[in-house]
Amino acid sequence: MSAEPRRTVLVGVTGSIAAYKACELVRLLVQDGRRVVPVLTPGAERFVTRETFEALARNEAPRDIYPHLTSAHLLVVAPASANTLAKLAHGLADNVLTEAALAFAGPVLVAPAMNVRMWEHPATRANLETLLAHGVRVIGPEAGELAEGETGLGRMAEPQAIATLCRELLGQAPGSLAGKRVLVTAGGTREPLDGVRFVGNRSSGRMGVALAEEAHRRGAEVTLVASNISVALPSGVEVVEAPTAADVGRETLARADVDVILMAAAVADYRPAEPRDGKRTKDSEMWSVTFEPTDDVLAELGRRRRNGQILVGFAADEGERGVDRAREKLAAKNGTFFVFNDVSRSDIGFDADQNEVTLVSRDGERTISKRDKREVAVAILDEVASLLGGG
Ligand code: CTP
Repeated sequence: MSAEPRRTVLVGVTGSIAAYKACELVRLLVQDGRRVVPVLTPGAERFVTRETFEALARNEAPRDIYPHLTSAHLLVVAPASANTLAKLAHGLADNVLTEAALAFAGPVLVAPAMNVRMWEHPATRANLETLLAHGVRVIGPEAGELAEGETGLGRMAEPQAIATLCRELLGQAPGSLAGKRVLVTAGGTREPLDGVRFVGNRSSGRMGVALAEEAHRRGAEVTLVASNISVALPSGVEVVEAPTAADVGRETLARADVDVILMAAAVADYRPAEPRDGKRTKDSEMWSVTFEPTDDVLAELGRRRRNGQILVGFAADEGERGVDRAREKLAAKNGTFFVFNDVSRSDIGFDADQNEVTLVSRDGERTISKRDKREVAVAILDEVASLLGGG
């Protein structure tokens, strides 16, 4: 990892009952050796006093934030109320925190806390999308009992989890892939049955797109081999369409001379052996289709892998045995590490916004707890960057 860990964190606190949990967050950050600057909205001071934060941070909560902006490495807004989330999304600057957020050039993490109906309101959903598109990181909220005696999504993420993510964000060098060439495959292949029908899978391409975006953000030159992606394609990245497994093989192998290859695509293992020309019209006959195995692109990349090249495979498997199988695949396909995700769970993985994955390498394994796929991409590329010696 990078030699000099970043140190100053602005902790923004808004008017929410969860403000008391921000005290614990400040304590954890100080324990990690960070310099913490509390930034309280007037609303926050209705819940917890300025003096409490100043004592825990061992630092004053400044009325003028500007002198602190250039020395800070991270702004965390925890809790972020629906009101502050809206202001951040729209660039309003009507108090010390929203002013700081608008003037701050570094990474921003928000931990929303609000009533479940506020969280689910289309206005909040749209604000959140805007913030994510601006590169803001979001953690939580979690489901549970809320202040008004209701239950649902809206509780601020636990301070411990926020502190862990802060550690990752502070350890992450934004330019850690500068000058590197990265090839990402994403989406799911479709294998023709006839002129109009295909056999496909539920992969949306979201994970691979998030990886391509994050690699680009870190300064890499990125090519995305795209198989039927159903989410918006990233900008600043070269996109090569590859609808079938054969296309993925051809396009990927032709571009394999890069520093990093991330095989996030769900490539068909089998395809119809004899797809029909034109459309098969309906009749009362059975339609039997024989499938033949496709070429394993990752295995071929593994055979050709040169020293120092990072080759990452993705394994979609079910349950406990998945990690063991990922380890076997890692050995068989000569990858650097495998990203395993459990497709028996409906809340993560295929076609979901969130993922929980386990990174499996020859040295061991590490689980990246459930989070937005963009955050999972950050963790995967942190690993890649540190293996390249730049993280
Ligand atoms: N892969 C590939 N070429 C194929 C099939 C898969 O390059 N024809 C890649 C995928 O992009 C992914 C990894 O191999 O990175 C998945 O490995 P695979 O052995 O296909 O595992 P799963 O499909 O997850 O599991 P199973 O073996 O149970 O099908």
